[in-house]
Amino acid sequence: MQTILSIENLSKVYASGFRALSRINLDIHRGEIFALLGPNGAGKTTLISIVCGIVNASEGQVRVAGHDIVTDYRAARSLIGLVPQELTTDAFETVWATVSFSRGLFGKPANPAYVERVLRDLSLWEKRNNKILTLSGGMKRRVLIAKALAHEPQILFLDEPTAGVDVELRRDMWELVRGLKANGVTIILTTHYIDEAEEMADRIGVINAGEIMLVERKDALMRKLGRKQLTLQLDTPLNAIPPALAAWRLELGNGGAELIYTYDAENERNDILALLKSLSESGIGFTDLQTSQSSLEDIFVSLVGKDAAAAAARTAENDPRKETSR
Ligand SMILES: Nc1ncnc2c1ncn2[C@@H]1O[C@H](COP(=O)(O)OP(=O)(O)OP(=O)(O)O)[C@@H](O)[C@H]1O
Ligand SMILES: [Mg+2]
Repeated sequence: MQTILSIENLSKVYASGFRALSRINLDIHRGEIFALLGPNGAGKTTLISIVCGIVNASEGQVRVAGHDIVTDYRAARSLIGLVPQELTTDAFETVWATVSFSRGLFGKPANPAYVERVLRDLSLWEKRNNKILTLSGGMKRRVLIAKALAHEPQILFLDEPTAGVDVELRRDMWELVRGLKANGVTIILTTHYIDEAEEMADRIGVINAGEIMLVERKDALMRKLGRKQLTLQLDTPLNAIPPALAAWRLELGNGGAELIYTYDAENERNDILALLKSLSESGIGFTDLQTSQSSLEDIFVSLVGKDAAAAAARTAENDPRKETSR
């Protein structure tokens, strides 16, 4: 696997004396979608800002396709596109001018056909002659993406691309990210929406209080740390778990009307068959059953703690997607 971005021993202490990053080591593979998860203030934006040359590191080294971001800044920066967390665009420029200008900033020759394709892909073509201040919030966000893509970067950073956007734009964004990946672009996104990481990412990194706590392939992470649950609706409610079933990891739910079995994702078939046999031997009948799998969110909570995860989730509280997402 080829490394396109290498971060070594990176630390950041802000002028205030606050240590935002501590000895970060991270390699990003060419062509992957990497999701960086972490609660508010974990250091995600700081990390991205250093890689993009907006913030200086206190210690450590970052290389983009072999180019050092300090000594070989122009080459490194031209390979990167950044969609920042905060909406920042020139209100009085048109969409077309903003995006074309951004391409020029990186020394790329004009390429109207490419800019047109980017604007069409982002459903901005109809608005190309609009001044930015006449666009809706979601459209402004699309313009930021178009700007970031204007110079055909190999790596795209999306710092909370879907915070506060509607369901439709979120879907579009996912489509766009998949399309970029298919074209070989490496994507690094931060998000508080854990379901987003679960759906999109090849690998997941968890950062908390300036330290990387874990980097893992998503499927391996879900398998390793994920738990599954089997819920049985009992035909007769129980007051307590019968002693004969004490060896199983069982709980009662819904006032004794449900029996809940939590198990590791491995060996599930054998376990469940054996459990059902034990139940029948104990004379416990059920009318229905469902299984569910613990989400990345559960895993995240187990890593950073309930408080930190809740704080991260709170930022999403006024989000229009809340009702429609999980
Ligand atoms: N210019 C600055 N001066 C001092 N401290 C800063 C500065 N910028 C960020 N910090 C602090 O560094 C820490 C990390 O901030 P950062 O913006 O990287 O977090 P984040 O993970 O992106 O959070 P969020 O999820 O809220 O966007 C925070 O405690 C923040 O207050
Ligand atoms: Mg941030």
